[in-house]
Amino acid sequence: MFSKNTYIERRSRLKQKVEKGILLFLGNEESGMNYEENTYHFRQDSTFLYFFGLPYAGLNAIIDLDENKEIIFGDELSIDHIVWMGNQPTLKEKSEKIGIEHTEPSHSLAVYLQKAILQGRKVHFLPPYRAEHKLKLAGWLEVSPKEQANAASVEFIKAVVGLRSYKSAEEIEEIEKACDITADMHIAAISVARPGMKEYEVVAALEAVAYSRGGSLSFPTIATVNGQTLHNHYHGNTLREGDLMLIDAGAETAMGYAGDMSSTLPVSKNFSVQQKDIYDIQVASHLAAVDALRPGVLFSDVYDISASVVFDGLKSLGITKGNTRDAVAAGVHAMFFPCGLGHMMGLDVHDMENLGEVWVGYDGQPKSTQFGRKSLRLGRKLEAGFVLTIEPGIYFIPELIDLWKNQNKFADFICYEKLELFRRFGGIRNEEDFLITDFGARRLGKKIPLTTDEVEALR
Ligand code: GLY
Repeated sequence: MFSKNTYIERRSRLKQKVEKGILLFLGNEESGMNYEENTYHFRQDSTFLYFFGLPYAGLNAIIDLDENKEIIFGDELSIDHIVWMGNQPTLKEKSEKIGIEHTEPSHSLAVYLQKAILQGRKVHFLPPYRAEHKLKLAGWLEVSPKEQANAASVEFIKAVVGLRSYKSAEEIEEIEKACDITADMHIAAISVARPGMKEYEVVAALEAVAYSRGGSLSFPTIATVNGQTLHNHYHGNTLREGDLMLIDAGAETAMGYAGDMSSTLPVSKNFSVQQKDIYDIQVASHLAAVDALRPGVLFSDVYDISASVVFDGLKSLGITKGNTRDAVAAGVHAMFFPCGLGHMMGLDVHDMENLGEVWVGYDGQPKSTQFGRKSLRLGRKLEAGFVLTIEPGIYFIPELIDLWKNQNKFADFICYEKLELFRRFGGIRNEEDFLITDFGARRLGKKIPLTTDEVEALR
């Protein structure tokens, strides 16, 4: 945990951003995998962690703006719990560590909220993402799960986004730790992968790095010879000579901060000529995006730059044709780059994603609905203190090729005959993490191999 003052200061700044009512913070519960007592790895809610720092299950909190009170709700361990899991500090002791004096048993929270509602006071809550949160809100506030996303407090969402988006020096240090571990995970994977191995053997080698450094994973690992599938979590394929393997994996520190990087390696010792041609285009697109990062720049413009480099590069190979600006405006590049360029990162790998992309990534402005561009999680003007990923990719997705080809879609821009030669190519993505500084951007964490030479040096 950070020092007590960090949490006091964060709550104090939050209180200045919301006028009145009660701010409700739902901590996470343990969650059963296959029966109640056999639980998933516990992960505290990130907004709860940000303002209250306590990584324990079964806690909730309120900030009562009208009465200037902060209360943690939770229950002391029974002797049965202590026998089973060992002792813990009392709720009072835990709360004192984050500068909170008032604690109440869990059952008092419903009473507190119901009294406030009867007094006509507003209870602000954030969009829930767990079923148990939805049930609790339905019981306490009489808002049905279906209505909760719309009933969530925009004032509260904007206040939280207005704080969590700007990383403090101590957060950056923690994120950088996650990035260092993440880099070592990738270096391990690139070094260990050999023809004949299963994907899960590479996964085991890279995840061991995260766990051996005291943390865990920031999201389920992607390690696949089918890199054209953007979020492929299957790990049962055998690595064969000539395959590309795409790794997208990240560490989470014990304090909950994320790293997120991607790399692509040849299963053979070297990239083939065709693989190198596409790989070099991806790297050029990546570097062009990195070069454009600075405060004041719209991230959607950085996306256009990176998409244009992909389109131009493929044009040099005869796969695309025509005017690049027109093609990117029309969304032609999405045949090869059907995803976003990056996202905010912090306590969540997609930071604050449950608070809504429109607030986190677009500052309240509407998002594009165009295929490809609509997947851009971040489009807003960049500001110093933002931490984000850069991860353009080039993918050859047979189903998408067939769909567009049969529709003769964008035939003025895509040479379908030439594209056929790449149908079984797979996908390439490289990803690094950046802090936006006062004048530009700084890459976070240890460097992972990016160019083909750098990757091959580890093979
Ligand atoms: N790197 C995984 C993701 O962005 O979802």
